[in-house]
Amino acid sequence: MARRKKTTKKVTKKKKVVKKTIKKRAKRKKGVSKKITKKVLEKNINFSKGDDVVQYGAINGQIALQTVRGMRDILPGDQAYWQQIRKIFEKRSVEYGFSRIDTPVIELESLFIKAIGENTDIINSELYTFSAKSGDKVALRPELTASAVRAYIQHGMTILPKPIKLFSMGPVYRYDKPGEGRYREFHQAEFNIFGEDDAILDAQIMQIAHRVLKSLGIKNIQFRVNSIGTIESRKEYLKLLKAYFRSKKSKLPLKYRDMIDTNPMRIFDVKDDKCMQVCAGAPQAIDYLDKESREHFKNLLEYLDELELIYTIDPHLVRGLDYYTRTVFEISVADEHGAKHSLGGGGRFDELVELFGGEPTPAIGFAFGIDRLITEMKRVKAKKYKESQPRVFLAQLGSLAKKKSLQLFADIEQSGILVAESFGRGTLKAQLRYASKLGVDLTLIIGQQEALDDTVIVKNMITGTQETITKKKAVAFVKKNLKEISKLVKRK
Ligand code: HAM
Repeated sequence: MARRKKTTKKVTKKKKVVKKTIKKRAKRKKGVSKKITKKVLEKNINFSKGDDVVQYGAINGQIALQTVRGMRDILPGDQAYWQQIRKIFEKRSVEYGFSRIDTPVIELESLFIKAIGENTDIINSELYTFSAKSGDKVALRPELTASAVRAYIQHGMTILPKPIKLFSMGPVYRYDKPGEGRYREFHQAEFNIFGEDDAILDAQIMQIAHRVLKSLGIKNIQFRVNSIGTIESRKEYLKLLKAYFRSKKSKLPLKYRDMIDTNPMRIFDVKDDKCMQVCAGAPQAIDYLDKESREHFKNLLEYLDELELIYTIDPHLVRGLDYYTRTVFEISVADEHGAKHSLGGGGRFDELVELFGGEPTPAIGFAFGIDRLITEMKRVKAKKYKESQPRVFLAQLGSLAKKKSLQLFADIEQSGILVAESFGRGTLKAQLRYASKLGVDLTLIIGQQEALDDTVIVKNMITGTQETITKKKAVAFVKKNLKEISKLVKRK
């Protein structure tokens, strides 16, 4: 007995040694392959010196097969969300009387500098700029508002009856630090109303934002609102604000101190604990509004109460773009842990048209970040767009049948019936399996004999019955049968 125990022990020990050796070898191998990969990468590393390519994935010659940093492909699997977004935006914009406008992705750099302001993050560090072959300094649009205002003036919309409501949607570019929900190429959907300064339009713009989110299945919507007055009325306030920040200069981190003189209101936007502590005691724009702006803000709040939109007044809300006057607002949602996710924002830009050389024209608008809307839709498991399902499937067997089915497919599709096929799938069995997976009502089959006779078998997938008819009559026959099936399904 004791002897057997000894042998078992010996065997286990041997097993352990073998295992260790295998592990050691594997480790050594891994090390070698790591070294080789590193060598290959180092050899190819020269193709990009900036931070645009973060990981060195598959390398084919000098091309890194990956998107540049902060940019993404929108793959087929996500398209149902994008389609749902497009559908809802199209519907809501028409309902509220907006006309669609699309502007170029590239504009003169000066357009954005003038609109957004020189001392803002977007202009200082996030604008993608380059010289065109003409020598013009151009930029990828970091937002849509400046272009909408440019187009409004350029196309003489000033003379049209007011208000003018414009809806826009498309990609925008900011050389921001990529992170969760923050990309360098992202997409915005934007609503702007030109020509009215009544606070009822501010309320309507916020109502549209709310309505869009509800239609997308997004809940727990919160608005933060503030009024920052007109550019004229802000002058006095800015003096006070500068004086306050100067008195607290030593408490602000070094890198933000310059902002005291260049753009003190932007300090409210900085997400830094020390800045936030200093900001907590800062004078607030809302306390220094001119009489009209105060009245305007009061009216807005009354309209919001009437609409029963949930909002909080945030006296520190200033927004990161310099063109805003009076109303500013941000839209966010709270998740199950209470964390807030910002989805959109906007406000009045009553002085921007005039700043661009147009007639004085009050305006209000906002933009949603579409990428963030989609993240939220996924989080709350909101409804995606559902493609219409085909009701007919066309199966074929043999090369002659394949040729004949090409034209029949086109005839059915042109008659307005959604039809599917799988010309590439070999056996009839595989094709029929695919047809039943699609859940079609009718399957048309052209086999070798049918191809010679110019006929087609029509199989009713609900009753299981089938009939052979001439190819000429196929479309009319299919239409009639589909109608009958629809009636039958309704009756059930
Ligand atoms: P914004 O707040 O700069 O406003 O951008 C609007 C929305 O775009 C944000 O609320 C956010 O959802 C999304 N967004 C911003 N940066 C990023 C990013 N790096 N990655 C992903 N999403 C982002 C404007 O752009 C104004 N033009 C809105 C407006 C229209 N004001 C008046 N009319």
